[in-house]
Amino acid sequence: MKFHITILPGDGIGPEVIEEAVRVLNTVAAIGGHTFEFDEKPIGGTAIRATGSPLPRTTLDSCLSSDAVLLGAVGSPEFDPLPPHQRPEAGLLLLRRALGGFANLRPAISYAAIASCSPLRTDVTAGADILIVRELLGGLYFGEPRGFSGTNGARVALNTMSYSVEEIERVAKVAFEAARHRRRKVTSVDKANVLETSQLWRQTVSRVAEDYPDVKLEHLYVDACAMHLLINPRRFDVLLTENLFGDILSDEAAVITGSLGMLPSATIGGEVGLYEPVHGSAPDIAGQGIANPFGAIASVAMMLRHSAKLDQEATDIEAAIEHVLDAGYRTPDIAGEGTRYIASTSEIGELVCQAVAEIADMRHAYHAV
Ligand code: NAD
Ligand code: IPM
Ligand code: MN
Repeated sequence: MKFHITILPGDGIGPEVIEEAVRVLNTVAAIGGHTFEFDEKPIGGTAIRATGSPLPRTTLDSCLSSDAVLLGAVGSPEFDPLPPHQRPEAGLLLLRRALGGFANLRPAISYAAIASCSPLRTDVTAGADILIVRELLGGLYFGEPRGFSGTNGARVALNTMSYSVEEIERVAKVAFEAARHRRRKVTSVDKANVLETSQLWRQTVSRVAEDYPDVKLEHLYVDACAMHLLINPRRFDVLLTENLFGDILSDEAAVITGSLGMLPSATIGGEVGLYEPVHGSAPDIAGQGIANPFGAIASVAMMLRHSAKLDQEATDIEAAIEHVLDAGYRTPDIAGEGTRYIASTSEIGELVCQAVAEIADMRHAYHAV
């Protein structure tokens, strides 16, 4: 098959982890006889430095005419003093809105091999497998009006949280459909004891649930949810929530897995799927070749499953990730018990490619018998 991907490495460790994700894509293409065409474009701080804009027109056009987009991370301390709309992060938010994907899937899985890397006890985290479904185009991130007013001591800042029934329904359906392929439970997370948007959220999700009698629905307030995630992560199957709550809870869920570097994401529901690890540009470790690329590599697996419909290839990559972890190869952030060798970002990429090739070979040999 022929599949066109726009690659947006971005800032900090973004280019480091994306290089490994692309390496894995090339391996999959070589094994399966697929043609993946890549078009690399600037975004974020890199794009501001080159063009003055965090999302240049040529980058956006390339994304819109692709089959899928793979993004590393954006953000750099040098732009921190700028107002929101001039920052690298604004490029990512504009891109998300332009691509139209409203459901951001963020799986958080506790892999047995690195369970001891979590500060939580292994008996708490063992077997945890959560799919966070984060609404991605609404809430405080995009609500109008927004901005600053007043001067000096009388300055005021304003953001607006708004959700329509339609926005809630469409993402809720994604969560219930996903639950049907998993353990058939949706936990909807809101702040309905305080916020009108959350009351509408809860009512709407409850109504959508009536169409899915085979899926159990529970509601949690976001503050209590933050606690339950760490006390008993195994109670969660699909966790459905609005944009900002999902941003916060997904970084918290990363603690269950052992590192933020482990989490991939897929944004679906729009014209073009967007795939990005959950972590940011990690300026504290950028340029050292030690960033964990597993989240970026697992994002490529999600791309193959959701956008390219190459389910077997996606499953092979996921198996390869587990294989490399089981064999004891780790970046420093996950170098706990069972580590055989502390590997660089690119060594991990190479090992995953080898494992993908071995897994595909084994399958072919099995089918040949
Ligand atoms: P961060 O996710 O970049 O880093 C948080 C911590 O986790 C750091 O200690 C970092 O070293 C570690 N970490 C993150 N990814 C890692 C990986 N792959 N391997 C090993 N360790 C990893 O969050 P931050 O420091 O709060 O933000 C830095 C910048 O990134 C900011 O400008 C922020 O806006 C941006 N950001 C971008 C995205 C994105 O592009 N999707 C996501 C989050 C944050
Ligand atoms: C994420 C990030 C982004 C978000 C930022 C960089 C705009 O934190 O993808 O989790 O808040 O959505
Ligand atoms: Mn985030």
